[in-house]
Amino acid sequence: MTQDDAKRLAARNALEFVEDGMSLGLGSGTTSAIFIRELGERVKGGLKVRGIATSAASQTLAESLSIPITNFDETPELDLAVDGADEIGPGLALIKGGGGALLREKIVESAAKKFIVIADSSKLVKQLGRFPLPVEVIQMALPNVTRKLKALGLNPTLRHHADGSRYITDENNFILDCAAGEIPDPAKTAADIRAIVGVVEHGLFLNMASFALIASDQGVTKVDR
Ligand code: 5RP
Repeated sequence: MTQDDAKRLAARNALEFVEDGMSLGLGSGTTSAIFIRELGERVKGGLKVRGIATSAASQTLAESLSIPITNFDETPELDLAVDGADEIGPGLALIKGGGGALLREKIVESAAKKFIVIADSSKLVKQLGRFPLPVEVIQMALPNVTRKLKALGLNPTLRHHADGSRYITDENNFILDCAAGEIPDPAKTAADIRAIVGVVEHGLFLNMASFALIASDQGVTKVDR
């Protein structure tokens, strides 16, 4: 099975948890895009849901598929959020933000009663840290935050686009990707990063996922926290 096939399998499996009338958090990235497209098919077939997207790209995709979009004024709490991840460690500790959407992802997923992670099995790790940990930073604070992340030994690098321009998030911030190496104590690393003034959010999602649907040649495995 190709990685794309596995992503599709996980995304389709997550649709089984979607019920008529639900409010949904719509994730970002390639796996989530498959989920949103499949959801669009169901909406075309008469399923009634509404969603809040975790990125401008996912919102555009959802709107193109006529999936109704809501907001936190109308819908303060979501029934279910479905999103991918860059790494899935023990206890369903996640690294997210490879696609740059970590801030809205954390906002949306923390407002959901249930958060399902969908991924192919390459995302499972014994310890987080192989994937660079994204940290979203206020633009003017970049030099200070960079220095402080370096002092923590987290090896930050400013994210750029392929054309060399600086990557700017949907919320107009920079992203520092931290080649931290192994992260033995994600809660401590999260607290250390959060204590730096100028950091908006980091890509460690701890104690947030309800369960993960992991697809491989063996099919889909539900991994509980
Ligand atoms: C975006 C994310 C994505 O969920 C993560 O990057 C996984 O993406 P993909 O499904 O393309 O592997 O956190 O900010």
